[in-house]
Amino acid sequence: MARARVGVLISGRGSNMAALLYASRLEGCPYEIALVAANDPQAPGLALAAAEGVTTFARCHKGLKRADFDGLIDAELRRHGCTHVALAGYMRLLSPGFVDRWAGRMVNIHPSLLPAYKGLDTHARAIAAGDGHGGCSVHLVTAELDDGPVLAQCPVAILPGDTAETLAARVLIAEHQLYPRTLWEWIAGANGPEALLTEVRARALALPEAREKLSHGTPGFHVEGGKFFAYFSHDRHGDAITSVLVRTSGVEEQASLIERDANLYYRPPYLGPSGWIGIRLDRGDTDWEHVGDWLARSWRMAAPKRLTRLRDIADRF
Ligand code: GAR
Repeated sequence: MARARVGVLISGRGSNMAALLYASRLEGCPYEIALVAANDPQAPGLALAAAEGVTTFARCHKGLKRADFDGLIDAELRRHGCTHVALAGYMRLLSPGFVDRWAGRMVNIHPSLLPAYKGLDTHARAIAAGDGHGGCSVHLVTAELDDGPVLAQCPVAILPGDTAETLAARVLIAEHQLYPRTLWEWIAGANGPEALLTEVRARALALPEAREKLSHGTPGFHVEGGKFFAYFSHDRHGDAITSVLVRTSGVEEQASLIERDANLYYRPPYLGPSGWIGIRLDRGDTDWEHVGDWLARSWRMAAPKRLTRLRDIADRF
């Protein structure tokens, strides 16, 4: 399966970035670090990333409007094919446009047990409140600061005599455990075959009189009493590909699609020279609207006239 390409944004030391990077080098990790970007060219984490052979980008944010600066970062992330963003000590508020563009694909680590102690000085506040534990949280990034759904947390005991610094140092050890593991599991889950099948199924079964049936051990989708219009394919004959197979108008269209984007489309060898096309779902950047359009089009080719006529009428309104 193709690995997700994570862009890591830092502002300083970059020890969480390093933890993510070293985890990405372990056997089976579903992501790689495609870019480390900083809003401070002096951020020590940049030198570390560069020494490890990771592409870096740095630009001081001063003098730029927030949205303009975020636009530069976004362009860099796209230029390097990033599919996900991990904030790791990135001490800048993000513009709503940037958050929107990466919605559902951007995570952050925060040094508290959220929802407690959003913002800064988390350790000092936990000690002052007499809490028994501090800790850290990994969460999805939404427009509100430190507010998105929490994916995982790790509590860290507060010891008698702890200062903000001593507690921060122990929480950092926990962060280095929590972040790589959470990112690993989150990406593997979202890109895993079960999650991908769920997405395909939801779109396929929303089409008129669509039904699901196993075909040669593979989930297939057909029109009630009629032909198949899609198959979900995962590691079929050991090809290590997860994809959805749909009908095209024939071998010519099939060939031109592959010529247009050979990373996305392929000819499923086991279906013969029939004009079916495979659309890969395992690249970490699936455009689900595009998949939905293909399913609808393929359904049309498989559905009886009685149903397509009704659909034509409905589409006109
Ligand atoms: C980490 O403790 C991280 O949780 C925190 O900054 C530190 C960065 O260290 N992030 C925040 O406070 C974000 N609100 P690092 O640069 O060594 O990863």
